[in-house]
Parts: sequence; structure tokens; C-alpha cells
Amino acid sequence: MTIISSYSIKGGVGKTALAVNLAYALQESGRRTLLLDLDPQGAVAFYFRMGSAKKLRMRDADALADGLRSNIRESDFPGLDIIPSNLAYRHFDIVLDSMTKSRKRLRKVLEEFKSEYDVILLDCPPNITLLSENVFRASDSIVIPVIPTVLSQRTLEQLTAFFQAEELPGEILRPFFSMVQKRNKLHREIMAELPLSCPGFLKTVIPFSADVEKMGLRRMPLLAYSTCCEAAQAYRALCNEILSETEPQP
Ligand SMILES: Nc1ncnc2c1ncn2[C@@H]1O[C@H](COP(=O)(O)OP(=O)(O)OP(=O)(O)O)[C@@H](O)[C@H]1O
Ligand SMILES: [Mg+2]
Repeated sequence: MTIISSYSIKGGVGKTALAVNLAYALQESGRRTLLLDLDPQGAVAFYFRMGSAKKLRMRDADALADGLRSNIRESDFPGLDIIPSNLAYRHFDIVLDSMTKSRKRLRKVLEEFKSEYDVILLDCPPNITLLSENVFRASDSIVIPVIPTVLSQRTLEQLTAFFQAEELPGEILRPFFSMVQKRNKLHREIMAELPLSCPGFLKTVIPFSADVEKMGLRRMPLLAYSTCCEAAQAYRALCNEILSETEPQP
């Protein structure tokens, strides 16, 4: 089982857009996939036309695993299951803090699902908290959308520095450029420079595109209904790049 997270300290950069399209690409490739939405905003359930999760008991790791299991829903796409979010997830940090080994709990909980799924995908909320630290320690790969702007660059540098300070494995950090506007000079400059100082940048670039925004109207992953638009082709290339690097082909 491989655990891949869509994560950034920064909000609104394309984490959920990546998570739902990667989840779709994973099931399409024949991998048994579980997409777990850790963000109380609950956007994953919206995109897959589901309600939110039932309230979870989160008093200890066993209760959390049972609660997550009871919230697994089949999506419209064979092989892709979803655990929607719940507003109660806003208390995740407090619950984790009360547990022993509080920074490694999520990995232990997710190991419960090891025999049932090839890949677990985590859509993460935008911040750096105890839940984020659990995500860092649970993930085999952390895919990070980076809009080529100065503030996005800064948050990526903060994350890299955090990994160094905590002696976490920096090689699992896999940034990529998101919402790119080719005509924007600053975007072009940052895209030329940032990968030089930040190893592990994925090559594929996701353009800024109204087709991605329209996912909110269609309420399904872009890859489920479009093959030819530039953004769909870019997402497919990005998913293939992530899959080829994170795990052996089945
Ligand atoms: N490549 C893109 N081009 C244009 N709009 C995009 C693109 N990617 C995402 N968006 C839009 O930007 C908004 C934020 O995207 P998304 O929800 O994926 O970001 P996020 O990082 O998950 O946000 P949050 O931090 O709030 O969870 C959404 O309205 C989405 O439709
Ligand atoms: Mg999101």
C-alpha cells in the first residue's frame, strides 16, 4: 500500500483539484484506491456528489480507524472508495494531541486498510499542524501544488526547512507548478529558478484553466469527462508522472 498526500501549507493552490483527479486516474489504472478527505471544508464529497461523513468517535486510534471504516463510501467509479470529511475534523489536532505517539497515529490508523487498497490518497487542509505532522510521517509521497508566486515559493521553503529541522525525509516532497499563466512574466521567472534550489520538482505543469474551475459545476473529476482540453491532458501527464515515480507498475 502506498500513501500519497496532496498537501500545501497554503490554501487555494489546487490540492483538492489534484486529489480528485489523481484518485480518478488511480482507479482507472486498476489500483484499488481510497481517497480520504482530511479537510473539514469537505470539498471531496462535493466533487463526488456525496454527503459528509457521519460524526466520528476519535477518542483513540482504534475508535478512529473504526469510525473511518464505517464512513467508507463507494464512488461512481469502480475501485475508488471515498471517506468524506466531517466538520468534526476541525478537532483532529486536539484528539491526536491526547494520544500517545501523537505524531505517528495516522500512519498506524491507515495501516488498518493495508490489505484492502493499493493506494490511499489524502486530501489535506491548508496549514501546518499536528495533523500535518501526522500526514508527513504517514506519507510515502507528498505532492505539493505551487502557484509560481513569491508567497507560494515562501511556503514551499518553509516546508522544506521544517523537514530539515525535524529530520524528515525531504525526498518525499514532490512539488509541481499549479495554475500557471504562461504570459505572466513572474510565473515564468519563478518557474525557471525555483526547481534549481528545490530538488524533486515534478516536470508536469498544470495551467490556469476555466476547465478546472468547471469541475465545481460538473461535480466530478475533470478526467472523468474530458480528455482533450489542455488542463485534462496536463492532469493525466501529472498523474502518470506521480504514479511512475511513487510505486512499481502493477
Ligand atoms: N488549474 C486551475 N485553473 C483554474 N482554476 C483552478 C485550477 N486548479 C484549481 N482551481 C480552482 O481554484 C480554486 C481552489 O482550488 P482547490 O480547491 O483545488 O485548492 P485547494 O488547495 O484544495 O484549496 P483549499 O486550501 O481551500 O483546500 C477552486 O475554485 C478550483 O476550481
Ligand atoms: Mg482543498
